[in-house]
Amino acid sequence: MDKINRRDMLSLLGVALAGAAFMAGPGSLFAAEAQKRPFALAQLPFSWIPKNLDQKDIGTTAYKGYDYKGYGCSFGVFYGIIGLMGEIYGKPYSDFPFTMMEVGKGGISNQGTICGALLGGASALSLFWGRKERDPMTEQLFRWYETQTLPIYKPEGKSIYFEGDLPGTQSDSVLCHISVGKWTYASGFSEKSEQRSERCARITADVALKTWEIIQAKMDGTSVNWFEKSASRKLCGECHDTGKESPILKGKMECSPCHSGAVGTQNKFKDHPSPN
Ligand code: HEC
Ligand code: HEC
Repeated sequence: MDKINRRDMLSLLGVALAGAAFMAGPGSLFAAEAQKRPFALAQLPFSWIPKNLDQKDIGTTAYKGYDYKGYGCSFGVFYGIIGLMGEIYGKPYSDFPFTMMEVGKGGISNQGTICGALLGGASALSLFWGRKERDPMTEQLFRWYETQTLPIYKPEGKSIYFEGDLPGTQSDSVLCHISVGKWTYASGFSEKSEQRSERCARITADVALKTWEIIQAKMDGTSVNWFEKSASRKLCGECHDTGKESPILKGKMECSPCHSGAVGTQNKFKDHPSPN
């Protein structure tokens, strides 16, 4: 790839495919390239370098990004950081096909799995850092999300869906389903309410700002005290972590929403709602 750029290579490939007669000449180049396959396109991993941004800009862009064409939380967080870099600094940031981040909406295409805002944040980190560096950064973001009362963000000026204060809840979970479910149950607002949309738009700003804080600490070389393992992770891990007596545990999520025997997770297929 030194003497010949990718576009040349693609046109050569086109010519090569067009006629077998050509294969003897450019075909040898093609063969050299083919030897790198598969993964010829994965040779520059995690190579982008983060550039400075204004925090206020990030909050506003992420908040509005949640609503923009309905692209949602994952897009909002990602665009609030990487999209802004693209708008201010151009390439390579501007090359990203941003609309693909819509996939995270509603916990990945409305499946209610991982909170899309967190997917957006972790994806932004992974443009810059591979797993060795990204994993502890992601962990810091996720543990923060589990333990905060959210939303925190207050839009400046007019709100998008709903003016005024909203109740906050601590999700104890990185999952969209649990995070939204606890909030709708506690607040009494339905999942399709304007208040719920406003809540998620504000959380989009919260997650973008936290992700940015983590990125900035990394850029400044001040990232220490990455995260505190949750109490349940410490307790359950004593027996279920690798090398312990029952090493069958995958994951680092807070365990309590699903394994505490809470009212909400007891058997709802029987006598539910309660007959009296
Ligand atoms: C003192 C050790 C110990 C601790 C602490 C511990 N476990 Fe276990 N756990 C076990 C053992 C042993 C088994 C049986 C595993 C097997 O059969 O391989 C088990 C099994 C399980 C199972 C499988 C189903 C069942 O009920 O048997 C679940 C789920 C589980 N543990 C969850 C947890 C969670 C959540 C925590 C933290 C609140 C936790 N465990 C803490 C030792 C422990
Ligand atoms: C989002 C809900 C959820 C969270 C969070 C969660 N678990 Fe589980 N876990 C489950 C479910 C569901 C199963 C499958 C239980 C079954 O077998 O019926 C399971 C299974 C397990 C098992 C045993 C394997 C099995 O299939 O029985 C262990 C051990 C376990 N979990 C421990 C933990 C620990 C420790 C944590 C926290 C680090 C945790 N889990 C977090 C829902 C959860």
